Amino acid sequence: MTRYIIQGGIPLSGEIKLSGAKNAALKMMAASILTSDISVLKNVPSIKDVDTMIQVLEFLGVSASFNPDGDLHIDAAGDLSDKAPYELVSQMRASIIVLGPLLARLGRAHVALPGGCNIGSRQIDLHLGGLKALGAKITTGHGYIEGECSDLKGTIVTLDFPSVGATENLLMAAVLAKGTTVIENAAREPEVTDLVLFLNKMGGRISGEDTAVLTIEGVDSLHGAVHEIMPDRIEAGTMLIAAAMTNGSIQVDPGHAEHLGIVLEKLSLTGADLSVANSTIRLTTKGRPAALDVSTLPYPGFPTDLQPMIAAYLSCAEGISILTENVFENRFMYIDELNRMGADIRLDGHHAIIKGVKSLSGAPVRAPDLRAGAALILAGLGAEGETIVEDVGHIERGYEGLEEKLRYLGADIVKEEAVC
Ligand code: EPZ
Repeated sequence: MTRYIIQGGIPLSGEIKLSGAKNAALKMMAASILTSDISVLKNVPSIKDVDTMIQVLEFLGVSASFNPDGDLHIDAAGDLSDKAPYELVSQMRASIIVLGPLLARLGRAHVALPGGCNIGSRQIDLHLGGLKALGAKITTGHGYIEGECSDLKGTIVTLDFPSVGATENLLMAAVLAKGTTVIENAAREPEVTDLVLFLNKMGGRISGEDTAVLTIEGVDSLHGAVHEIMPDRIEAGTMLIAAAMTNGSIQVDPGHAEHLGIVLEKLSLTGADLSVANSTIRLTTKGRPAALDVSTLPYPGFPTDLQPMIAAYLSCAEGISILTENVFENRFMYIDELNRMGADIRLDGHHAIIKGVKSLSGAPVRAPDLRAGAALILAGLGAEGETIVEDVGHIERGYEGLEEKLRYLGADIVKEEAVC
């Protein structure tokens, strides 16, 4: 297993260039199935999850390859298969996002059930219920979802929960349906908006982006499009909190500073000095953060994907913070590892009560999942002494060149491939 070796206590400083957003890129790669034309995606991050999605597309008969200037060309012209196999879907549960496009393009789909992961059971009932409302016949059995439909028909779908993936699967099914679909209580994440922008460039007729009500007028066909993936706002938040943890000073440009509105508000409440010019954010911190309470919620609430990072930061706050996780049922797997570094955090249901300590001490720890792993790296950057983070393969699924970027900002972090 690959590990990072970190010497803590060095303030990070400088300006960092963000990569394209993982949670936007994966969906647009799936959306390219909707046309037999070629589509080109720019600013696609070079991460393991993108490689896995390329394998899924190729298994479907779609060709996807990076050209010399790093743009991803996707050509879904051929006769496509309708099968997304277990061995690929089990590597990356986001593969479920090909379900809607396959039903829209082929009228059939055979997609492995994604199953849960470390942070929760990751249900897909809202995906399947919405697709049935659009007229798809959906059955599950032997670990697979079987879908078929002669024609998808526009309808009104009200989501019990503003699920990002369900909103996106339904968008990509409805865009070629007969008639108009309205998705109520839709997810409002910026990555959903980026997908809407791409689908409309392809000839889709979708309105209501950035709101909880999306209206999709079905069209007969879509054509290829060129689209630049939005910068990764979760990477931006990760870097800002990394700087805050080391009493550093950095600058990031997430393209839309407002996408991090509540994150910036919380960081300034801890005492960080923040300035925003256009879409560029500069953060400087001095001394320990003030304690505060944080609750994760669907966008525009505090993003669950930054929950482990803010916990690491608040573990050295002056006072007691209460962190509440409202989106996933099991997103505190990293707390034991933080406590092994000297943090004083107690779990009570979906709350983490964080009693701030003066500083963390470096220790060997293990990354349980992508964002928790990133939080442990941040904890090591702020801790006294050496931290070894094991199992960083999780982290490399979702962050492009994280250790190089942190080294560029002054961190003492080295990757070591463990000899098996
Ligand atoms: C997306 O996951 C992101 N992943 C997640 O980022 C992110 O945490 C999440 O949205 C919330 O913002 C990608 O975009 C690839 P949801 P998704 O459907 O679509 C429940 C990361 O680290 N739910 O909004 O799976 C579900 O169980 C990842 O980059 C149902 O009950 O999130 C969960 O508790 C982690 N039934 C909650 O909703 C459903 O049919 C949020 O899920 C669907 C979801």
